[in-house]
Amino acid sequence: MSRANWGSKLGFILAASGSAVGLGAIWKFPYVAGKNGGGAFLIAYLVCVFTLGISMLLAEMLIGRAARKSATTAYRELKGKLWPWAGRLSVLCVFIILSFYSVVGGWTIAYILRSITGEAITADTGALKAAFGSFIANPLEAIAYSAAFFGITMGVVLGGVQAGIERMSKILMPTLFILMLLLIARALTLPGAIDGVMYFITPDWSKVSASMLLEAMGLAIFSLSIGGGMIIAYGSYLSSDTKLVGATLWVSALATLACILAGLMVLPAVFAFGVDPAAGPGLTFITMPAIFAKMPMGQGLAVAFFLLLLFAALTSSVSILEPIVAFLMDEFHWQRKPATIAVTIASFALSIPAALSFGVMEKDTLFGKTAFDLMDYTASNVLMPAGGLLAAVFVGWAIWPRIETELRNEGAAAILPAFRVICGFVAPILIGYIWIHGL
Ligand code: ALA
Repeated sequence: MSRANWGSKLGFILAASGSAVGLGAIWKFPYVAGKNGGGAFLIAYLVCVFTLGISMLLAEMLIGRAARKSATTAYRELKGKLWPWAGRLSVLCVFIILSFYSVVGGWTIAYILRSITGEAITADTGALKAAFGSFIANPLEAIAYSAAFFGITMGVVLGGVQAGIERMSKILMPTLFILMLLLIARALTLPGAIDGVMYFITPDWSKVSASMLLEAMGLAIFSLSIGGGMIIAYGSYLSSDTKLVGATLWVSALATLACILAGLMVLPAVFAFGVDPAAGPGLTFITMPAIFAKMPMGQGLAVAFFLLLLFAALTSSVSILEPIVAFLMDEFHWQRKPATIAVTIASFALSIPAALSFGVMEKDTLFGKTAFDLMDYTASNVLMPAGGLLAAVFVGWAIWPRIETELRNEGAAAILPAFRVICGFVAPILIGYIWIHGL
């Protein structure tokens, strides 16, 4: 079976930035920035992305492209020994992510429908909180909507690399940015919006702490899709003449742009309506509908907002499913169709306890965490940083001569010293530091 290929470099960049721009950028970033003093967090996040993040992203792209295989097979073909375990770990990581990510993906579908019917739009935040709480606690609804989200994700991955993932990304990514600009234009013209903008861009240095830096680094890794073999799989469909340094810069730039735009979309509205910017995860599902209720044309904007969230989630969820499918295809020679269906069913099964974590299984905890929190915590704080670290160390030490040649061939010799220092030293030290202080 010959390996699938991206149809164009643009298609790859849109798919990879689609993988990056997801719930991390649009749902998580505004509330985490809101909680951590706005501008100071933004700067910490940007520093993490443009040092550590960008290097690990390039490392993963290089691994995938060099082997033209997904993570486990790539590690084996490039070096062997114990390295394929790094790939298997990344498969476990994305399997867990897919299972809880689809629960939130399902919520976005529900909120599109609730915005269309008008049910989700009221200025009464108490009522919104109660409605959100009872919606996510309802076992049937939570499972049904996540099943719908799984179904769409599976449909796209079944279509394959070009006809499925690339085609969807080419349509959804530009739409996503247009929708965001539209919502920003509306948010910025609200009276008082400027306070939100100032909050977002003015660094409050008193908020800088070790835990804030850890959060910035964790979000940089999550929002660039590092550590789960996603970019290794996407890189494996690249042709040998694609310049990877340029592609990495594009993907990182689009991912950070999306975070900044999300901040500019949410925080001005939050300030204009006197909502607490540190409202936490509920900012999106509880606070934003209250804001829309007070805006002219609010209902249409609410539909646009939740659509945007769904599009962002979908271009990421396909990239979370793809490396597991590619693993079965590369390692065990499965066909795409049975692999995609089997992984979707298995991940859906694991998503059930995650979906029930807000209702009937709320009290079933392990280490004080519900199934949802435990999956999120394990994947985001342990497995993704571990995967990113292993990719960086692999590139910086295990296969460095080959990487050196590849980067020289694409005319990027100038970045070699910095890239090696970051992959070989900075990444392991910083991630080690995250674990010691954050876990
Ligand atoms: N990068 C993806 C996101 O941010 C996983 O949602």
